[in-house]
Amino acid sequence: MCGVVGYTGTKQASEWLLDGLQTLEYRGYDSAGIQVVSSSGNLHGVKCAGRVATLRERAHSANPVGTCGIGHTRWATHGAPTDGNAHPHLDGSGRIAVVHNGIIENYQKLKRELMAAGHTFLSDTDTEVIPHLIQEAWDGPAKGDLAAAVRNATDRLEGSWALAVICADCPGTLVVTRNGSPLVVASTPDGAYAASDVMPLASVTSHVLQLNDRDIATLTPDGAIRITDRDGRVVDHPTAIDIDWDASAAKLGGYSDFMAKEISEQPEAIERLLSGRLGKHGIELDELSLTREELASVDKVVIIACGTSYHVGLIAKAAIERWARVPVSVEYASEFNYTEEYLVTDHTMCVVITQSGETADTLTAARRMKGMGCNVFAITNVLGSTAARESDGTLYIQAGPEVAVASTKAYTAQMVGSYLLALRLALANGNMSRDEVEKHYRDLTQIPDIMREVLARRWQDKQAARLFRNQRSALFLGRNCNSTTAYEGALKLKEISYLHAEAYPAGEMKHGPIALIEGSFPVVAVVPADHVHDKTVSNIQECLARGAVVIGVATDGDERVAKLCSEVLWVPPVADELIFPAVAIIHLQLLARYVARDRGYDVDKPRNLAKSVTVE
Ligand code: AGP
Repeated sequence: MCGVVGYTGTKQASEWLLDGLQTLEYRGYDSAGIQVVSSSGNLHGVKCAGRVATLRERAHSANPVGTCGIGHTRWATHGAPTDGNAHPHLDGSGRIAVVHNGIIENYQKLKRELMAAGHTFLSDTDTEVIPHLIQEAWDGPAKGDLAAAVRNATDRLEGSWALAVICADCPGTLVVTRNGSPLVVASTPDGAYAASDVMPLASVTSHVLQLNDRDIATLTPDGAIRITDRDGRVVDHPTAIDIDWDASAAKLGGYSDFMAKEISEQPEAIERLLSGRLGKHGIELDELSLTREELASVDKVVIIACGTSYHVGLIAKAAIERWARVPVSVEYASEFNYTEEYLVTDHTMCVVITQSGETADTLTAARRMKGMGCNVFAITNVLGSTAARESDGTLYIQAGPEVAVASTKAYTAQMVGSYLLALRLALANGNMSRDEVEKHYRDLTQIPDIMREVLARRWQDKQAARLFRNQRSALFLGRNCNSTTAYEGALKLKEISYLHAEAYPAGEMKHGPIALIEGSFPVVAVVPADHVHDKTVSNIQECLARGAVVIGVATDGDERVAKLCSEVLWVPPVADELIFPAVAIIHLQLLARYVARDRGYDVDKPRNLAKSVTVE
């Protein structure tokens, strides 16, 4: 989950490397480093524990000179986040520098072999074996060919990697490769670039190339990129991705933090996603690779996801079961991967939900489902991501880059994306008429305006956040699809405010969590005007009887809830119960953000987390 960048060209490398790392910092932010090589073959590196801002200060005073270089922002896996463990790592001769995203699973064995051969190691990382292996190949069978040396070295690795490599003996040559970790490259008039994802490249080009696993790309200062496969054969037609958003989409644009910006962007994201989806065949979802007949025969859906995307899966289950009447199982990818027996039918469809499209657990699960013969449909935000490339069909939610680690706009857009799938299935299998589907689609089109109204009520969230002062824990409750709203609200709060937050289906509270409640304990109760309203109101009463302070998330005009709750986060009436989770969550996203800011935390980069969880 680290970020990797590389550049070779006509400009000094360090400025873009630092800017690129800043953009990739969401991938990891416990240490950072750059290394450049000058045309005369001098390697100059700067690295440190801490964020890219610290690295930038150090780099400005060190002023590394060179038009070819690599950079890294780290999320520690092997070895604490210290200066010494920060990337780049060098070989024993100090001529070869490497940055790495991923995990080398056989590094201990390789390290023992290298040490026995006289190599000395300076860090606790798994990565450090790589420059030493490249050095052995460079001095041996690869005979001074950097791409061949990298190929030779990576043939000995097990695990996952995205690597960028430079060498003092061939200044100007940048070699990059990947296996299981994302990496893209781009050719421009002022040189060639590499990065973990398209975001840092959006400022220099709108056209990038996707590397396949084990491809090795050699980048040169004239902007040329030569890609060869594992056997050294030239790859003529690499996959191209056109970046269809402006570089400014990944910038703050006047907001104080990305989370605030991304929460505000939700109405437009949903509008984009829904636009043009109602056509002469009902819901237009050409992204599906199944024919209408195949869709009609789907008799089970398995949804695979992690974290916030898993919560989307729970709501998707409600929609698919209600509208298409197809049974759905929702699985945590990390659990599914180690479930020995998993039963599928001949017509099981797998839906993977992943904002980044790079979550290691989710990708492993998707491959397993494919291996079991299921059609795999991905709902993702990132163009050209591994989930998209490996799935049979992909719905891009088009939410634009999501930079804050806490997912917000991707949550609601993925939810609406799954509603489109549910309607498409319902129409295909005959559980809904075209008119019914059209009515539901029109209901969905109300979401953006209701979201705007909720956003305009952010003062309610700010006010409610005060009830969390001096608290260490909170309970979130809801019923049916809004138990998921409670799960997601609690996840947001714990991710960014470090408050313990427990979420339960409201009716389950009496089976244990009620023991937590004492005087002034905050309970967030999601209680829309729906078919379980009275039941949830009773649960609020039970909390109040034990001294809790209750914050309601309720439908406008609900006098009963207004009387019971210390604060109410009001939501305009919705046409369908399934719309409430998509709009009410905005209050809980804002609430979590206000609580975290009250406590003085960086809401975009919470401790210990990373945006893209590319390790198992
Ligand atoms: C969300 O706020 C989290 N940061 C996290 O739970 C995330 O949803 C999870 O890691 C899955 O990510 P994905 O959607 O990119 O697969």
